[in-house]
Amino acid sequence: MSGTEETTNWVVAASISDIDALEEGMALSVELGGTAIALCPFEGEVYAINDVCSHGAALLSEGYLDGCFIECPLHQGLFDVRDGSPQSAPVTAPVASYRVKVEDGKVLVALPS
Ligand code: FES
Repeated sequence: MSGTEETTNWVVAASISDIDALEEGMALSVELGGTAIALCPFEGEVYAINDVCSHGAALLSEGYLDGCFIECPLHQGLFDVRDGSPQSAPVTAPVASYRVKVEDGKVLVALPS
């Protein structure tokens, strides 16, 4: 086990059944350690990004998930859920992305410690 792994703060964010129950195009909003995080399913994996758009006061989980892209509901900016990178105007700044692992039917997110 690496030193990085030992200090990682893995937090249970949801059950994988919560993710499986999402309708097409939806992400799951959770609050972890005071941070709003959107859990986004894509191709059998779960990705976690900060839920608050980098452009304004909107929750990305209230937008639309299309493949690996999530569309902000306010001005339709796109982010790649795999790394939080901005993909189309008007967004220019990324949102934070977090490592995710699934263990025993639970989705765990690595929070900065
Ligand atoms: S608030 Fe998200 S694109 Fe403007």
